[in-house]
Amino acid sequence: MFKGVLFDLDGVITDTADYHYKAWKSLAEELDIEIDREFNEQLKGVSREDSLDLILKHGKKRNTVDDDEFRKLAEKKNDVYIKMIQSFSEEDIFPGILSLLKELKQHHIKIALASASKNGPLLLEKMNLTHYFDAIVDPSSVALGKPAPDIFIAAADAIDCPISSCIGIEDSQAGITAIKKSSALPIGVGRSNDLGTDISLVSNTNDLTYDFLTSTWENNKK
Ligand code: BG6
Ligand code: MG
Repeated sequence: MFKGVLFDLDGVITDTADYHYKAWKSLAEELDIEIDREFNEQLKGVSREDSLDLILKHGKKRNTVDDDEFRKLAEKKNDVYIKMIQSFSEEDIFPGILSLLKELKQHHIKIALASASKNGPLLLEKMNLTHYFDAIVDPSSVALGKPAPDIFIAAADAIDCPISSCIGIEDSQAGITAIKKSSALPIGVGRSNDLGTDISLVSNTNDLTYDFLTSTWENNKK
């Protein structure tokens, strides 16, 4: 049986994936760069700096931005994003997530946060979820961001579970790739068009129950 669950945050625990997109879109518009939701799939799970790099390259403007300007643009996006999440509370937790966290606790399964977001701890506080987490990995403490497996490996280490005894839950292409490389078992939140047909998927977080995780685990470990 699995011993730990490694959670992504944005787009899994709450709807912040959409706020990240809106904040990037407004910054991109100021830079005269067009981005849409399809392009945004590449940004999900990817660090702030790597996301800005991808957007600038998409607009063929990477060479026009020096290090200082790059830092300012990343800060500007974060300022917009921080304003958007100010009023976050327990009401913003995705359906089914709180009951899953409670079920995992009852079954003595360890819980870790493996989010690329430096705003992860702030959001968990606002949603009153911090106490459910046995570990929260600081994304700046790992060498490589998603799609590299580092943050999931660090999360499993932090809860003292072998990575191959963990389930990772993700809504992003980069995150699913990272989980697969880490050798945890991936569960995707989203569509097979975006996340692939070779993993267990839920379209709604309400379906993320302890029973679903258990049967996914058993089906994959047969
Ligand atoms: C990930 C999001 O969880 O965190 C990305 O999916 C985001 O969209 C990344 O860019 C970094 O977040 P932050 O809050 O540190 O800018
Ligand atoms: Mg995500």
